[in-house]
Amino acid sequence: MEDARAYQELRVGFTAAVSHELRTPLARLLALLETAALPGADRDELLAQAREQVEQMTELVNDVLFLSELESGREVVALGGTEVLPVLQEVQARLADSAERADVEILIDAAPDVELPLRRRMLQTVVENLVQNSIRYAGPGSTLTLAARAGVLEVSDDGRGVEEEELPRLFERFYRSDQARASRGTGLGLAIVKHVVVSAGGEVEATGGPGRGLQIVCRFPAP
Ligand SMILES: Nc1ncnc2c1ncn2[C@@H]1O[C@H](COP(=O)(O)OP(=O)(O)O)[C@@H](O)[C@H]1O
Ligand SMILES: [Mg+2]
Repeated sequence: MEDARAYQELRVGFTAAVSHELRTPLARLLALLETAALPGADRDELLAQAREQVEQMTELVNDVLFLSELESGREVVALGGTEVLPVLQEVQARLADSAERADVEILIDAAPDVELPLRRRMLQTVVENLVQNSIRYAGPGSTLTLAARAGVLEVSDDGRGVEEEELPRLFERFYRSDQARASRGTGLGLAIVKHVVVSAGGEVEATGGPGRGLQIVCRFPAP
């Protein structure tokens, strides 16, 4: 009964938070459209900005849908094992362009035979979210290492990092550090990572500090 009530409160809070997060890009979009209607408006620039707001909303809706699929159990997380190295290489290749633009170097440190107890799609989601974060927040000149060994996936960068007291909060839904607020994002990425890892029986931990980068370690139970 207690559990049911706590869950209900979480759901209500979540709905309110999602609506709140959608209001900002919607308000910006409306303002951009109104400005575009004025004589002499720079329509190309305004359209580009409008597109960004739509992309922000799309990312939010996709993340919310994915989380709800995880929660409803419609998306199965753990089902057999997945070889890690090919997934790391795939994500590295897919995000190579944006990594280069951000001046973040991506290194891989994994033996070919390491497997983790996750479905391939789930492992991809975890790795992609973590790599995307380092590209967005680590800062130019940073190095990001994707490492895997038995039962462990470790994604670590040597970039800007966050304050130590923020580390435990990073996995909360919608938590974003003040510095990140100006950039695109939903605050749901690390919540998704944690949900996936915990659903596979594992645990996540964040370490690092200002100027010492951010390290995310995912530990899985032995098979
Ligand atoms: N590699 C990183 N370096 C510094 N800060 C990070 C890093 N990864 C995540 N963060 C911080 O954690 C916050 C939450 O990350 P996440 O849940 O993925 O949400 P989002 O990326 O949508 O903001 C980010 O907004 C940022 O403040
Ligand atoms: Mg993110």
